[in-house]
Amino acid sequence: MRVLVTGAAGYIGSVAVEKLLDAGHDVHAADNLWRGHRLAVDPRAAFQQVDLTEPSQVDDLIQAARPDAVMNFAAATLVAESVARPGDYFGTNVVGGHNLLSAMREHGVRNFVFSSTAAVYGEPSTIPVPEDAALEPINPYGRSKLMVEQMLPAHANAWGLRYTCLRYFNVAGATVAHGEDHDPETHLIPLALFSVMGRRSSFALFGTDYPTPDGSCIRDYVHVEDLIDAHLLALDDLTGDNGHSGAFNLGTKGGFSVREVVAAVERETGLTVPLEERPRRAGDPAVLIADSTRAREILAWDPTRSTLDQMVRDAWEWFKANPDGYAG
Ligand code: UFG
Repeated sequence: MRVLVTGAAGYIGSVAVEKLLDAGHDVHAADNLWRGHRLAVDPRAAFQQVDLTEPSQVDDLIQAARPDAVMNFAAATLVAESVARPGDYFGTNVVGGHNLLSAMREHGVRNFVFSSTAAVYGEPSTIPVPEDAALEPINPYGRSKLMVEQMLPAHANAWGLRYTCLRYFNVAGATVAHGEDHDPETHLIPLALFSVMGRRSSFALFGTDYPTPDGSCIRDYVHVEDLIDAHLLALDDLTGDNGHSGAFNLGTKGGFSVREVVAAVERETGLTVPLEERPRRAGDPAVLIADSTRAREILAWDPTRSTLDQMVRDAWEWFKANPDGYAG
């Protein structure tokens, strides 16, 4: 299948390109290279630098790629930044999504896999969170992703778009070729690893008084390769005879506290995390765990690599091999 991957130079998009190519798909990769890295794009893919907020560029992209399906990973994704700069999030994520859908309609591209997020649920009252939980985002990032999700049924109704929204919980780990290289880096596992590598002088644990067994937040971590497996399964499902539109949570139904992740980092590296206890970070829910039964039952998704030690080990291997990220 010919697949257009937008946001192909980011962490998750780069692994998607790699795994789609490995699975025999023909991949056209696009990115605006705002935070992504050209070197993160597998050289087997065609690459086009495109700003999705520019309708004419998106039109050119769809014409050049002529895809059977689009996977949209292109987004601004930092919660705190979205609170400070909401316009950037509505622009990049919502306008970009809208432009993509308009160009897809124009050129008859009917299959869409959309990167969504647990942030669409806000602070869910049911844990594990099912897909039919209330959609009440508490920040512009979650709101922007939900706005794109909400556009999709109207497009399906008007011109037969087939779509899948994959709601990510916490993505971690790496492949040998592709890992995390964010600037700024805000995520737990990279920052804990940076602290043992000496790239940071300490690791800040945000919040020790949450209503959890050890007082730190609990999150549902998924290995990036397992996450991309779900995209490949969603693509097959979507383009098959009985494709399922709608949303799927991608998590493991288990969770780890920040302290448990820190312990795993110490186990895997053999080094001590220089931990500093800090107050809670604004906007962090105490516990976020996915009910991913729907993905397991309908897509036959089986996240086999998502043990905590495996995710930390793969991230550690990536950072050791690429201490300066893609710049090295
Ligand atoms: N944490 C620390 N110290 C750090 C970094 C993180 O203690 O230096 C804690 C956070 O407070 C949180 C947990 O580690 O409790 C995980 O934090 P991350 O920043 O790694 O991930 P989030 O759960 O905040 O964010 C993820 C995705 C977002 C998405 C969000 C949905 O990265 O894109 O889940 O709630 F919006």
